[in-house]
Amino acid sequence: MSEYILEVKGLKTYFNHSHTRVPAVDGVDLAIRKGETLGIVGESGCGKSITAMSILRLLPPEASIVDGQVLFKGNDLAGMSELQMTKIRGNEISMIFQEPMTSLNPAYTVGFQIGEAIRTHRKMDKKQAGASPSTC
Ligand SMILES: Nc1ncnc2c1ncn2[C@@H]1O[C@H](COP(=O)(O)OP(=O)(O)OP(=O)(O)O)[C@@H](O)[C@H]1O
Ligand SMILES: [Mg+2]
Repeated sequence: MSEYILEVKGLKTYFNHSHTRVPAVDGVDLAIRKGETLGIVGESGCGKSITAMSILRLLPPEASIVDGQVLFKGNDLAGMSELQMTKIRGNEISMIFQEPMTSLNPAYTVGFQIGEAIRTHRKMDKKQAGASPSTC
């Protein structure tokens, strides 16, 4: 077993636009041990969000991982089925999105939406998850 909880090796994520492939992430390597924090710094548009979205497999349809590995607890997320990913995403590995106006649904309370991940992966009702139905 690797000493790292997350290891990204040679990650390449490209956008497909009318017969051209535009590289957004072009060979990223990183490794994080359990309990470690890693900050990724770079100018706007350099690929920080697309790197994170590639790890979580939350890419828009026009983007795809074209090469590399995303080893989480030794398993390659880049090669997993969507069904396998839904069991891991929001349960063992999650993303806190940058833009609340686009990542949260204004029709639901923040508490309801945060509680949704807990309810999906744990055997809890809304109250237990801390999201009262009256606030939905
Ligand atoms: N739908 C898209 N089609 C084509 N290119 C895209 C698309 N979405 C993002 N990109 C490009 O991918 C690159 C990486 O974008 P990304 O959002 O990862 O940057 P970022 O480092 O997170 O920037 P910021 O600091 O502004 O959040 C950028 O050049 C961006 O223009
Ligand atoms: Mg970003």
